[in-house]
Amino acid sequence: MTKDEAKHKIENLSKTIEEHNHNYYVLDNPTISDFEFDKMLEELISLEKQFPELLLPTSPSQRVGGAITKEFKSVKHKYPMLSLSNSYSKDDMMDFDRRVKEGLHLENDLFGANQIQYVCELKFDGLSIGITYENGVISHAITRGDGVQGDDVTTNVKTIKSVPLKLKGNFPPLFEIRGEIYMPKKEFERINKEREEIGETPLANPRNTASGTMKMQDSAVVASRNLDCFLYSLLGENVPHKSHYENLQAAKSWGFKISDDAKLCNGINEVLEFIDHWDKARYDLPFEIDGIVIKVNDYQKQQQLGFTAKSPRWAIAYKFKAEQVSTKLLSITYQVGRTGAITPVANLQPVQLGGTTVKRASLHNADIIEKLDIRVNDFVFVEKGGEIIPKIIGVDLEKRDPENVKTVYAYECPECHAKLVRKESEAQHYCPNENECPPQVKGKMEHFVSRKAMNIDSLGGETIEQLFEANLLRNIADIYDLKKEQLLPLERMAEKKAQNLIDGIEASKAVPFERVLYAIGIRHVGETSAKKITRKVRNMDALLAMQKEELLHIDEVGETIAESIIQHFKNPQNKDILDRLKAAGLQFSLSEEALANTGDKLKGLSIVISGVFTKYSRDQLKDMIEQNGGKSSGSISGKTSYLLAGDNMGPEKLKKAQNLGVKIISEEEFEKMLN
Ligand code: IVH
Repeated sequence: MTKDEAKHKIENLSKTIEEHNHNYYVLDNPTISDFEFDKMLEELISLEKQFPELLLPTSPSQRVGGAITKEFKSVKHKYPMLSLSNSYSKDDMMDFDRRVKEGLHLENDLFGANQIQYVCELKFDGLSIGITYENGVISHAITRGDGVQGDDVTTNVKTIKSVPLKLKGNFPPLFEIRGEIYMPKKEFERINKEREEIGETPLANPRNTASGTMKMQDSAVVASRNLDCFLYSLLGENVPHKSHYENLQAAKSWGFKISDDAKLCNGINEVLEFIDHWDKARYDLPFEIDGIVIKVNDYQKQQQLGFTAKSPRWAIAYKFKAEQVSTKLLSITYQVGRTGAITPVANLQPVQLGGTTVKRASLHNADIIEKLDIRVNDFVFVEKGGEIIPKIIGVDLEKRDPENVKTVYAYECPECHAKLVRKESEAQHYCPNENECPPQVKGKMEHFVSRKAMNIDSLGGETIEQLFEANLLRNIADIYDLKKEQLLPLERMAEKKAQNLIDGIEASKAVPFERVLYAIGIRHVGETSAKKITRKVRNMDALLAMQKEELLHIDEVGETIAESIIQHFKNPQNKDILDRLKAAGLQFSLSEEALANTGDKLKGLSIVISGVFTKYSRDQLKDMIEQNGGKSSGSISGKTSYLLAGDNMGPEKLKKAQNLGVKIISEEEFEKMLN
């Protein structure tokens, strides 16, 4: 393909891909399959690799992430980012309406001609962002920070698929649009489920997770977390309309995700109706909101009203009250998670709360029970705030029967009766019987066969349960001893299903070492740490022989992971399982291909990459440096060993390298250093 042809193709692909992103993420109306979409994106990425000079900052390939932000630059906001004053009652809202009319010198006639036009919007619970577009192209995205200056998180914001990289229609040449980055409830649940699988503590709520994610340095991780963004205000000299609602609709036509739930209301009574509606309906939304925002629609009126030191006088936030009820605590039971973590659960007299019947609530851990001094038969206050799961916030002591006895926390596992343990630094109790306690054993197996681990999709949760009950599976190594003849007599197990299972198990023997290490389920060892560890140790025997201090030298391995690895292999049962997996033929060392790319040929060297390359992407080069023991650094200093230079390298970098006498090498020379 000639460069011109490639350019044409890249333009077409980018346009089509972005249209499909818009259909899927903004309009919620996909028109092609994920498979077709992925194929197009792959083609685009591959063309951009072949012709790196054609890679544009607005390419949809940027949404996959990969670029690292070493340090988030602090940038001053062009327009300060103020906050809103809060209100909590209808009376507060009536006062607000009165103040608005006063400010505009209008008489407060509740039903007459002076009704103010308000825009009511959902108050999305996330982090605020200001995104600037220049000539229809995203230029930078800044977090609120202290309101005067915030962090430049452009690279991370570009991974949010509903944020347009390029606009369509008739937009002003320069403007800023503000909105809220949030994490959908489903995505939050997915991440927590994954964390639970490797024994990490769950994240507290979608809002903190969204804001933590925006501050991550690796944009590929940000991309994997599927954040979303609603936009809710337009700032600039040349915005098309004289009122807020009309401008929101215009922004929608340029490609922004604007909530369809924003409503133009005539007078405060319509506002109160809007609030009433969403106070109940909020639980059905796929994201969390913590209130309603009310804004005067007309810009001229906004201007007339102006600002206090902290917030506009033309807008206010109505915060929802967390709904509370009192009900009786019938019993406390204990749940065992797949990592052995014990969660106490309050079983309640069923009660209506926030549109659903609540029967159970988490009590989290022993400390919370102690702190609340919660006792069976007490009346407790249950609250449903922003969170998805209801919370017990206290005991109605006035209603306490003096006969109610103080709660003694469980001392043995409800499933296997092993004595529970609690580490000093942790809030949770654990069942230590990891290899025999049924929910732990089954949980380990589910993790082992999961897609990112051994990927045995013919062995799902139900089949694991069935084989466990039939005594055919007691640990992950038993999977490789399963015989078709043993499976056939089982219920719902036809010939074809049994064969699929056996084939899936057989195929998993080719799964690479790094995924095997992840699959065996060492607490705290996730996908990324498993990758880093296997690259360093190269085979399982080397890992087994390692002391804690050596483990600590591996990237990504801190005290918790190192200790967890040592403890895991200390257990003779785990050692036995490992021996059996090895005998079954699982990959216990890096493949030839992976090995060829690792080593310490670049040990002690610090290399700066600059420009565009023909054979490898910058990320690949960076990986190659790190996998060979070198350091890849962003800027040239006296400590730099080499400048790895591609085409179109910045003249400043070149000059600096020459001044400091840093050796400049080409892609080919770099390859030679490795071979
Ligand atoms: S308008 C002058 N509209 O709530 C402030 N804010 O303090 C203009 N928020 O930090 C803000 N949803 O992050 C506005 N529809 C919405 C919003 C919204 C959420 C957040 C925003 C702001 C805080 C209010």
